[in-house]
Amino acid sequence: MTEIITDIDLAAEEILNGNIVGLPTETVYGLGANALNQDAVIKIFEAKERPRFNPLIVHLFDTEELDKYADEIPQNFFKLYEKFSPGPITYVLKKKKIIPDIVTAGNETVAVRFPSHNIFRELLKKVNVPIAAPSANRFGRISPTSAEDVKKEMDGRIKYILEGGFSDVGIESTVVDLSGETPAVLRHGFVSEEEIQSVTGETIKPESGKIHSPGMLLNHYAPTTPLVIVEHINELEKFEGKNYGILDLNKYHDLKEAAKHLFFDLRRLDEKGFELILAAKVKDEGIGIAINDRLEKARHKNI
Ligand code: TXA
Ligand code: MG
Repeated sequence: MTEIITDIDLAAEEILNGNIVGLPTETVYGLGANALNQDAVIKIFEAKERPRFNPLIVHLFDTEELDKYADEIPQNFFKLYEKFSPGPITYVLKKKKIIPDIVTAGNETVAVRFPSHNIFRELLKKVNVPIAAPSANRFGRISPTSAEDVKKEMDGRIKYILEGGFSDVGIESTVVDLSGETPAVLRHGFVSEEEIQSVTGETIKPESGKIHSPGMLLNHYAPTTPLVIVEHINELEKFEGKNYGILDLNKYHDLKEAAKHLFFDLRRLDEKGFELILAAKVKDEGIGIAINDRLEKARHKNI
């Protein structure tokens, strides 16, 4: 049985004992372990059924001990940090040896994020170790944005989930690779590529052929019910006779609200046992790019 708890000390104790805990963040809930403890990190891969080639994000309270974990930190990092952290952005930097290979999937780089969620920050202060945490879903499934949804994904696989309310951002962090000459956005999120460019001057497209961010793999964020993208939510004639549910993100008053509800609404629809879920894309700008990217990956590939 998995228990939802509010006791931060208990969560801290679990992490320091080498166990994994469901944790609230402002983006989506994570499954956290002491990033410096290889055996603890292995438990994350097991609970998620995640392939070992997919590296994890390391969460830190602030930059005070960053030098211990990352090497050759570029000026762009400090400029971006100043503007967007703590918050929903992850930086890929050259790594130092102290970070176990299991965390970075053997890469020479490490992804670091400074979350803004108060409870997560309090936990980071208490444990005083970096916390490796992927989203708290089983591999390939929708990221959870509430403690209850983590419980549905992880029941019986972990002991505790720390309650932290609904995730405010609702989609995973933007991942920006700063380990090369020019920054490259590996995963779109709340912080847009334009906002990053406004700080760094330029970004480049990620080099193809290399697994940069398996978050960019197709068939991610998938509901069990086949999801179909429609042009407009009112063009439904061709689905007449089918028992479908509608994911209408355009009903929210702005794209931030739409992002916040995306995974939550999708999960609720998925639980209803429809034949199909019909979804329309949102405006392809700002955080809308990140939303459409998630919808494209959740889409059923054979319809
Ligand atoms: O918002 C978030 O980022 C959430 C919360 C819990 O912090 N975490 C999250 O983790 O989404 P995960 O594991 O589901 O996605 C992490 C992404 C993956 O696409 C992974 O491939 C990429 O970050 N990543 C991690 N380390 C990397 C590295 N060294 N180089 C390139 N990509 C990396
Ligand atoms: Mg994930």
